[in-house]
Amino acid sequence: MKITESNMAARFVELFGSETDPLVVRSPGRVNIIGEHTDYNEGFVLPAAIDKAAWVAVAPVQTNTVTIYAAAYSAFFVADLSVLEPVREHWPNYVLGVADQLKKSGFELRGFNLLLDGDVPIGAGLSSSAAVECATLFALNEVFGLQLTRGEMAHLAQQAEHAFAGVNCGVMDMFTSLFGKKDHVINLDCRSLFYEYVPLDLKGYKIVLLNTNVHHRLSASAYNTRREQCEQGVAWVKEQVPHVEALRDVTGVMLEQYVLPRDPLIYQRCRYVVDENHRLLQACRDLKRGDLSALGKKMFDTHDGLSKMYEVSCTELDFLVDFVRNNPAVLGARMMGGGFGGCTINIMQEEAIETLLESLIPAYQQATGLSLSYYIAAVENGTGCMTKRKTETA
Ligand code: GLA
Repeated sequence: MKITESNMAARFVELFGSETDPLVVRSPGRVNIIGEHTDYNEGFVLPAAIDKAAWVAVAPVQTNTVTIYAAAYSAFFVADLSVLEPVREHWPNYVLGVADQLKKSGFELRGFNLLLDGDVPIGAGLSSSAAVECATLFALNEVFGLQLTRGEMAHLAQQAEHAFAGVNCGVMDMFTSLFGKKDHVINLDCRSLFYEYVPLDLKGYKIVLLNTNVHHRLSASAYNTRREQCEQGVAWVKEQVPHVEALRDVTGVMLEQYVLPRDPLIYQRCRYVVDENHRLLQACRDLKRGDLSALGKKMFDTHDGLSKMYEVSCTELDFLVDFVRNNPAVLGARMMGGGFGGCTINIMQEEAIETLLESLIPAYQQATGLSLSYYIAAVENGTGCMTKRKTETA
């Protein structure tokens, strides 16, 4: 069933009682054209919000109790606002983590009822968790009249992910969910949060997401390790070049001088990030000039860097990229997001999609024993209220 504001509100009333009239908020997942593992290195990214989103319906209650219902699991979770802690079931953490961050920022919250639904595939690297965090935060901001800006919400949602999901992620996913603009990508500087919207005119091509259906269990710890390796590289460069704060400020020559002799693996990780930042800046120019094939070539280069230097790919992702690599109907393809599973993003000629999938789906099944899912993504607006705003002032 298609999720709409009216069926969210009706289901909320069924679950929680008719005296409550909820606020319904939609917050999207994201794709990222290029600029992977650059956000937590204070670099650049080129993401866009998509037409798959998390939805919440929220209304405050008079007590300290938070009651969440997750439609995907047909399950309730009840928590006390005064003792918020990460829990073993992963899904309540995205809501609880946000409430916890608001409390830590000094906001006086009351309890609330929340219905959660959505159509962002979970574990596919499309930021379903950021979508839930941003939807929740946006709704609580409205319902309790907290007057947070979208930029503040992006940071709070990121902190929630660190504290309650254990992933020391960058700000890209939350920023994109909150700031997305229909038919535009966001050229975002993750250090200053300066951004510009760049029109995404794909001229007969589409963004096709191919889902490996691999969910890697070690991805959170491997992600955090990559981040630590980057920080180690920065610390070594900083001993010699004090103004350096992040890989954003580091050059290839600095890495060769100060990191390579100490640890070739850390060098390799940092080198990928430094190269990727340059690639993104050029790719953004390609996009503005309308040179989609130059942009596409850089996406393949990014994949090779992520696979061979940063080592966050897996055989299934590599298979999907290699399968389309020499196909003239595919301008660019690469693994997307944190890695170790999830989706590849492909810029594919619209007319060729069906034929390509006809051969790819059985080939993938044969090579990996897994079935392939795919989505054709449209670029949509970021987080927004779907029902009228109702601010509680109590
Ligand atoms: C995940 C994280 C993001 C970003 C990407 C890799 O999606 O949540 O912050 O680091 O991986 O680019």
